[in-house]
Amino acid sequence: MIKTYGILLMDVLLLISAILCDIVKGIYRLCVPVAEKNVTGEVILITGTGHGIGKELALKYASLGATVVCWDINEQGNDETVEEIKQNGVSKAYGYKCDVSNREEVIKTAEKVKKEVGDVTILINNAGIMPSYHLMDHTPEHIKRIFDINVLAHCWILQAFLPNMIKNDYGHIVSISSMAGIFGLPNIVPYCSSKFAIRGLMEALCEELRAQNGGKSSNIKFTTIYPYMVNTGLCKKPLYRFQSMQLISIKEAVDAIVKAQRQNIREVSIPTYWFYINSLIRCLPPSCREHLSDFLKVGVDVAD
Ligand SMILES: NC(=O)c1ccc[n+]([C@@H]2O[C@H](COP(=O)([O-])OP(=O)(O)OC[C@H]3O[C@@H](n4cnc5c(N)ncnc54)[C@H](O)[C@@H]3O)[C@@H](O)[C@H]2O)c1
Ligand SMILES: *[C@@H]1O[C@H](CO)[C@@H](O)[C@H](O)[C@H]1NC(C)=O
Repeated sequence: MIKTYGILLMDVLLLISAILCDIVKGIYRLCVPVAEKNVTGEVILITGTGHGIGKELALKYASLGATVVCWDINEQGNDETVEEIKQNGVSKAYGYKCDVSNREEVIKTAEKVKKEVGDVTILINNAGIMPSYHLMDHTPEHIKRIFDINVLAHCWILQAFLPNMIKNDYGHIVSISSMAGIFGLPNIVPYCSSKFAIRGLMEALCEELRAQNGGKSSNIKFTTIYPYMVNTGLCKKPLYRFQSMQLISIKEAVDAIVKAQRQNIREVSIPTYWFYINSLIRCLPPSCREHLSDFLKVGVDVAD
């Protein structure tokens, strides 16, 4: 009896000291940020590189000396991205047409990448769609498509590339969720659910790898990004009350994503304060979130 309580007491003290230690480290890191990792020589697979955030991510990583593997269902847009990178002449770029929602296609294309380029060391799951209708106006095919691309594709791609990362005990997985993955919003109910799902997927997978690694964090890093509306055209009818809350530029979003990845940051919203506001508001009664929402009037209108 006494022995059991002794062990329990020890464990509680260890828990408290570990938490305090990490809080101190966290405060230190607020003053002295982690240095950004050098991505020269990394092989970075990015999905949805034919347009928008994915395209700019590919260009940015290429300018930093990484080898970039570009996947998109839109072959023309994707080829343009690869051409642009090649013209800049700093890095290598490879383009593949792939519908990430198609599991067979993902597996086949992944095999090609392994043969033609080598092991992917950084995976950025970015491709996504956002149809905006009332839930009742979404067709079943619509809803399934949203989940196929925004969620299930992540599983297929992870199953294709994670084994090598685990074998090499090295890698980084980045997922682009959304502000709609931390706040529920009208007119994009399936999209919000798919983006909330990404948060769970990333946290659970990170925990699973830690468990498989005997409780220690493995050398495979995780970064989940929650951007506010970005000026790519994806968000066709943005709503907001204040001019200061207009859409953020693609450059701002991409700089923040690359910085977070290079600093091994686990979760970050763009702008960063939204993540803290969310954590705070969730400690209050649910109506408080509604009051904030009514005040800001941020969201997405239904498409025509
Ligand atoms: N733009 C925003 O306001 C915003 C805000 C938060 C999060 N996000 C997220 O960022 C990511 C990128 O968004 P974006 O604004 O750059 O979009 P975008 O529409 O500009 O580009 C998306 C790209 O993904 C590709 N794609 C779509 N379906 C695909 C499929 N099945 N297989 C392969 N490629 C496919 C498209 O062809 C396109 O090139 C998405 O996951 C989106 O949900 C966007
Ligand atoms: C990154 O690494 C490469 C090769 O490993 C090196 O040539 C380059 O100078 C490094 N860049 C920085 C900014 O440290």
